[in-house]
Amino acid sequence: FRVPVPTNEPIQGYAPGSPERASLSAKVASMSKEVPEIPLIIGGEEIRTGNVVEVTMPHNHRHVIAKAHLAGAAEVKKAIDAAEAARHDWDALPWEERAAVLLRAADLLCGPWRDTINASTMIGQSKTCHQAEIDAACEMADFFRYNASYAVQLYQEQPESSAGVWNRLEHRPLDGYVLAITPFNFTSIAGNLPTAPALMGNTAVWKPSHTALLSNYYTMKMLEAAGMPPGVINFLPGDGPTVGNVAIPDHRLGGIHFTGSTRTFQHIWKEIGDNISGYGQYPRIVGETGGKDFVFVHPSACGAREVAVALARGAFEFQGQKCSAASRAYVPKSLWPDVKEHLAEILSEMKMGDVADFSNFIGAVIDDKSFAKLKGAIDRAKDEANVEVVFGGECDDSEGYFIQPTVAVVQDPKHDLMRTEYFGPLLGLYVYDDDRVDETLELCATTSPYALTGAIFADDRYAVRKAVNTLRFAAGNFYINDKPTGAVVGQQPFGGSRASGTNDKAGSILNLLRWVSPRTIKETF
Ligand code: ALA
Repeated sequence: FRVPVPTNEPIQGYAPGSPERASLSAKVASMSKEVPEIPLIIGGEEIRTGNVVEVTMPHNHRHVIAKAHLAGAAEVKKAIDAAEAARHDWDALPWEERAAVLLRAADLLCGPWRDTINASTMIGQSKTCHQAEIDAACEMADFFRYNASYAVQLYQEQPESSAGVWNRLEHRPLDGYVLAITPFNFTSIAGNLPTAPALMGNTAVWKPSHTALLSNYYTMKMLEAAGMPPGVINFLPGDGPTVGNVAIPDHRLGGIHFTGSTRTFQHIWKEIGDNISGYGQYPRIVGETGGKDFVFVHPSACGAREVAVALARGAFEFQGQKCSAASRAYVPKSLWPDVKEHLAEILSEMKMGDVADFSNFIGAVIDDKSFAKLKGAIDRAKDEANVEVVFGGECDDSEGYFIQPTVAVVQDPKHDLMRTEYFGPLLGLYVYDDDRVDETLELCATTSPYALTGAIFADDRYAVRKAVNTLRFAAGNFYINDKPTGAVVGQQPFGGSRASGTNDKAGSILNLLRWVSPRTIKETF
């Protein structure tokens, strides 16, 4: 069996004067004037509960961009029933039909839906045009296309047979619905979490994040337009506890596909543990959670400019809200003056503001809670004698939730800024003595409970190997001489371990393996 050979969707440049820029800009403008009503979509039916929440722009928080209906306990139950009702027909379809829905969705996304999905990601999540393009358009299309090809590989996996015996492996889906709980920070991840299990014959209840409802709703509509049958994915905006209290203990739960905070994931895991004897199967638990991602600069690194670019892009693109974003850095004393100078120049050119202005590089952080948490940490850093805020530090929520890209140099490598995840444009940076490089590397490996992404800048091959070994369990995605963000589907399977998740590599066959429950069949002739 074959499916079209996937390739990464080319990133559109949206250069000034280009037709694609004019088209996306017009879409952002027109969408900003609309206030769509977002319903629940259960079994293909749109449901308006009347319990409505206003969705606003992070960069202009008085501007309402949608009104979304929220699920109550009855709708959660209805969504589970719908997923269960659709499960057997969907599973009985040959896999090609399921793959075709995703391949068609990818083509719609890269064609007529591209502006809608990108513009809603820009308006609703305050992504710049480039950040929306690499996430909502390219990465989501890549997830759909590469997953379809990985599914075929997985289905082809068969055991040996022998004379008179035919052994088969039947890659069944899980024996219960999948609850997909998705984050605000990547529209592509929101699209991937319900569709990857669905591709493997499962049905899903999808709880989107409150702060990504606009793009997630359009993603759901696009999947419907691509032919996703009613009930296979049930779109269920709602409060976490309202959805979780019904959907997690339900005995029909087959699995959880989660991206979000470590705390919420641990809570879900405990809830599943508490209910374990009530389920019809052991639910699969797949989660990607927090990070305290690092850049370690070795004294042998040449190219202070490259290091500064990696720090600026790794820490501040999308306001530092990528799960992969650098939030701690270790720089040797010998290189710091040069790196600092380049950083000053780069940061002075990073414009912050409304993402509808395509020249802005930085938008707003996602909401008031995130703003307050980051402002609190930055204010504390400003007040502390042993921390120096060398760049940024301004926070302004008068119009939108704007936090200037901030670099805080700490005296103590175990400072809170080197351990705690703030999920925003705040980089803790430790300047170490060059002759204490090994000790500092050890600290980098053990300071944080997380292990999602990390990078080493070094030219000395012995130093590179030493870092690869010392940091072996400190990151699930490790970069040599590059920033720690920007994993590409099909090229760098993504995920971390320790407090960062179950490391079931998104966008790879390893992730799809979690959504099947194989049956071995031995037939004797
Ligand atoms: N794919 C995203 C990144 O690596 C999560 O930045």
